[in-house]
Amino acid sequence: MLINSARVIYFSPTGTTKTVVAAIAQGTGIKKVNYTDITLPSARKVNLITVKEDLLIIGIPVYEEKVPRLLTETLKSLSGEGKPAVVVTVYGNIADGTALSEMKTIVKNAGFVPVAAASFIGEHSFSTKEVPIAAGRPNLCDEHNAKQFGQMIINKLNSTEDISKIEAVVPNGKLLFMAKVLPENSAKMFTEKPDIDKNLCTGCGLCSKLCPVGAIDINTLEIDDSKCLRCFSCVRACDAQARKITYKKKLLVKKVLGAKSKKDSEVKLYL
Ligand SMILES: Cc1cc2nc3c(=O)[nH]c(=O)nc-3n(C[C@H](O)[C@H](O)[C@H](O)COP(=O)(O)O)c2cc1C
Repeated sequence: MLINSARVIYFSPTGTTKTVVAAIAQGTGIKKVNYTDITLPSARKVNLITVKEDLLIIGIPVYEEKVPRLLTETLKSLSGEGKPAVVVTVYGNIADGTALSEMKTIVKNAGFVPVAAASFIGEHSFSTKEVPIAAGRPNLCDEHNAKQFGQMIINKLNSTEDISKIEAVVPNGKLLFMAKVLPENSAKMFTEKPDIDKNLCTGCGLCSKLCPVGAIDINTLEIDDSKCLRCFSCVRACDAQARKITYKKKLLVKKVLGAKSKKDSEVKLYL
């Protein structure tokens, strides 16, 4: 099957998923690649995402070991018409749970054939200098793996005419004890709302513009805690360092997240 164009769709508040899917797309060698960033609320206000290109590459970060629930409606609006799709999840080296198999089911239900899948590591949203969690990931080695994965996808597609026969087998995955017992939005149990330090804030408003759930008032720059995900895109975006990550249960974060992330997990590829 000849692939001349690709559509890359991603949700990526802190940029790691974007880096991974872009490297995969680069590795395919496809010249015509169109990108759709669904991170901002305005980009998710669509009724239908029709993929006209020959291949879909879709990437999301893992939240609470699952596909972020705020994406449910947007992902339902995908329309595939039998085209091949690659599903990618990026997680902070704690646990990727059931996210990848969920994504496979989502694209299948949307009419795509999931021909490849991968779970990559990205720096954890809660990572700080004090408690580094998968800091610096995806690193050069991850990007190299992502490019190679892109090449493998093209080789797989080029070697067949009937893509329905080359669906990727993805393990169901399982939820760890934490994801089973903690309530939804448990990120809020670990971290404070990243309120602004008015002495440092320059009032540029970038944090508000980049918030994936529109939780930051553009005038007051106050955060609506009922909307805040704790993705900390506002913290990463602020050059003046007027917002910061503060752990509610520092010892717990250090012990559970910090310790777990010590193992250097590898990317998992399914073709
Ligand atoms: C609300 C929330 C929940 C998360 N849950 C998990 C998780 O269950 N397991 C994990 O390893 N990382 C988890 N992470 C970390 C992200 O998956 C990781 O940092 C990812 O690289 C972020 O992608 P992005 O840079 O594209 O936004 C979570 C992050 C947030 C904000």
